[in-house]
Amino acid sequence: MSDASTLTLNNCVTMPALGFGVFQTPPDETRAAVSAALADGYRNIDTAAAYGNERQVGEAVAAAGLDRSEVFVETKIWISDYGYDQTLHGFEKSARKLGVDQIDLLILHQALPSEFDKTLEAYRALETLLADGKVRAIGVSNFMVDHLTALLDRATVVPAVNQIEVHPYFTQPQVQAMNAEHGILTQAWSPIGGITFYRDGQHSSTLQDPDIGRIADAHGKTPAQVMLRWHLQRGRSAIPKSTNPQRIAENIDVFDFELTATELAEIDALDTGRRGGPEPEAITLETFGRAIPED
Ligand code: A2P
Repeated sequence: MSDASTLTLNNCVTMPALGFGVFQTPPDETRAAVSAALADGYRNIDTAAAYGNERQVGEAVAAAGLDRSEVFVETKIWISDYGYDQTLHGFEKSARKLGVDQIDLLILHQALPSEFDKTLEAYRALETLLADGKVRAIGVSNFMVDHLTALLDRATVVPAVNQIEVHPYFTQPQVQAMNAEHGILTQAWSPIGGITFYRDGQHSSTLQDPDIGRIADAHGKTPAQVMLRWHLQRGRSAIPKSTNPQRIAENIDVFDFELTATELAEIDALDTGRRGGPEPEAITLETFGRAIPED
């Protein structure tokens, strides 16, 4: 069985491949969810300044009684904090809320295509934080091919990670190929396709997909476990989100089976090309900007 549990980033920092996500987890449910995840063995927690729950993530990490070096903590700078000085200050806000001196992975949450200079200045601040040892790795999120091209043209440090929407119904092969070409790890958000659950029409939910269901039955696992295993065997990091203790445990119980090459290809073939999240090219401060509180 292949060891899909740890990934080495392009600056040699290692990271547990499977992380725990808290997107849209209300602050008052975050501490319990992260505590359950840590008790189940997750050692990689992904949050963001814009989620409003960094403080509760930090509380759960501190309460777990683990050495700080045992938990990989990842967060994201929101677009309203882009700019060199603003992003340095964004780090201070996140570190303070998380209760940590050093953040393991700090990434830009989105490109700001209409104000890309601001995005570049924000990334330059990440490079400074990396050089100063305030963060162990830096990266981006929701960067498309054009955004990566423009960033790589000016950046000194190649991002370690590009966190993008990837699930069986939306795989973004061109972005993944560009990530791979530059040694950038693809990290999948909405890895079991949660973003597809509430939409109508054909291919509405990955959880009900007949092919995924058949593969799950063949292995005695659940559709969510099959999707997570697919990410890991394809070399991606994945950060499933749940607030339900049973599902939190289910989502990390993916290291006792292996999908065949045919099954991996069958899941790859389910891509519909239809994005669930916002169009990255359309992100602007006017439509998505909002102040990130100091505390
Ligand atoms: P809940 O928090 O009630 O468990 P994604 O990370 O792909 O966006 O998926 C998140 C969504 O999937 C949430 O609605 C979450 O709900 C649900 N979910 C998480 N794990 C599982 C699972 N193992 N089986 C079914 N649904 C799940």
